[in-house]
Amino acid sequence: MEYLLGIDIGTSGTKTVLFDRDANTICSKTFEYPMYQEQNGWAEQDPLDWWNATVEGIYYVILTSKIDSKQIKGIGLSGQMHGLVMLDSNGKPLRKSIIWCDQRTGKEVEDMNRILTPQKIIDITANPALTGFTAAKILWVKKNEPEIYNKCAHILLPKDYIRYMLTGEFATEVSDASGMQLMNVAKRDWSDEILEPLGIERSLLGKMYESPEVTGEVHSKAALATGLAVGTIVVGGAGDNPAAAIGTGIVSEGSAFTTIGTSGVVYAISDKVAIDKKGRVHTLCASVPGKWTVMSCTQAAGLSLQWLRNNVCTDEVQLAKEQGVDPYELMTAMAKEAPIGADKLIYLPYLMGERSPHPDPDCRGTFFGLSAIHQKKNLIRAVMEGISYSQLECVDVFREMGVPIGDMMICGGGARSEFWRQMFADLYGCPVSTIQAEQGGALGVAILAGVGAGIYKDLEETCSKLIVKNQTHQPICENNEAYKKYYELYKELYVTLVDQFKKLSSL
Ligand code: XUL
Repeated sequence: MEYLLGIDIGTSGTKTVLFDRDANTICSKTFEYPMYQEQNGWAEQDPLDWWNATVEGIYYVILTSKIDSKQIKGIGLSGQMHGLVMLDSNGKPLRKSIIWCDQRTGKEVEDMNRILTPQKIIDITANPALTGFTAAKILWVKKNEPEIYNKCAHILLPKDYIRYMLTGEFATEVSDASGMQLMNVAKRDWSDEILEPLGIERSLLGKMYESPEVTGEVHSKAALATGLAVGTIVVGGAGDNPAAAIGTGIVSEGSAFTTIGTSGVVYAISDKVAIDKKGRVHTLCASVPGKWTVMSCTQAAGLSLQWLRNNVCTDEVQLAKEQGVDPYELMTAMAKEAPIGADKLIYLPYLMGERSPHPDPDCRGTFFGLSAIHQKKNLIRAVMEGISYSQLECVDVFREMGVPIGDMMICGGGARSEFWRQMFADLYGCPVSTIQAEQGGALGVAILAGVGAGIYKDLEETCSKLIVKNQTHQPICENNEAYKKYYELYKELYVTLVDQFKKLSSL
């Protein structure tokens, strides 16, 4: 029997999944870790937490599934995108990683625009300078922690740090690296035109691969720690969203998916480099060689519901524990009791500033219309609706750019709720489907590993064979109409509050 391993280094935890060659899940395990927020708008994680969770995850799935680790024919890595990992010349992390949702780099974005000009940044990196992308984070460390920057010998993305720990290779791949804002995205390689003016040495960056290419082999020290066999190949893999694209079968133009994890993402494939000149959505290299993607990112999607769970729904958390169920199940059941529009309560999901469709580090979460009649069910429904309105605003941008969206796949923790899936179908006005294998990103990179190992011949053909649709929700016309009135008001709120958000941030 041949197996493939997919490892997804997420924000709430690392998920390790063992698949057989027909994409059946043999064993899956997640180990969690914290996010550190020293200041409002900052977000960091410890790369050693990622590594420990990876070691424990691999060890667990090999032991539990009782397989011989030599039967694992390849490993794929997926991970949270844009995070900055800085290593010294011995490969040790110099500081915690500044992760994707950190918003401290407003000034560095201004510096990038001044040094390179906004036009050049868009022309080469396919995106406007963004606080969430890695380049601005590198400049922040260079300016604010020069003693650390001077010791830095390697700059890696989160999953690429795990690659280094498994194989000793300093490498990356195009889908994740294009979110660093240091690449010529059309040419699928690092750009000296960006690196030199910013004073970032190319030698700090990893070797560039396409996602299915073999980047290295597991070395003896990593084999000892994890139970893997020495020599097991590790392919390029992909950022978590391009990985989920493969895991949901989104590999050719015309198809799209929504994922509701900590962040919320809408992702579509394109045969060419399609850029939104207003910078409301991102353009990146796809994990499918020779293709690109248009992608949006709502910073605090699942994070908004998690925040509500931890700070408001503590009784439900306790009750869920007693009943042995997921607290989100109880919360969504309560949300269902409130009507569309949550009895005139609207939520803006800007807990960590925002990227799509409003690149703005200063905006913050808002409940608009709070009334004495509102109960927890209204707050929960308003949060779910606000997250969904944000996704719809991004889908509207895709449609405006001429990126067709007629059929939507959905994945991530949020997709487990039938109620939420129907809300998305109603709002998007198109069918929304789940896939049978729920593993999204981990499955996507396991498939890439299968291509790298020669088990699968062609990526697109393999996806069409292995990825099977599960449930489809059709849009309900009257719900679409009912949501529209609230959505229109939702869109007005950011525009109305943008200056007040800036004032609040400068207090
Ligand atoms: C995408 C993004 C997030 C992270 C979180 O641009 O920043 O989706 O990848 O996992």
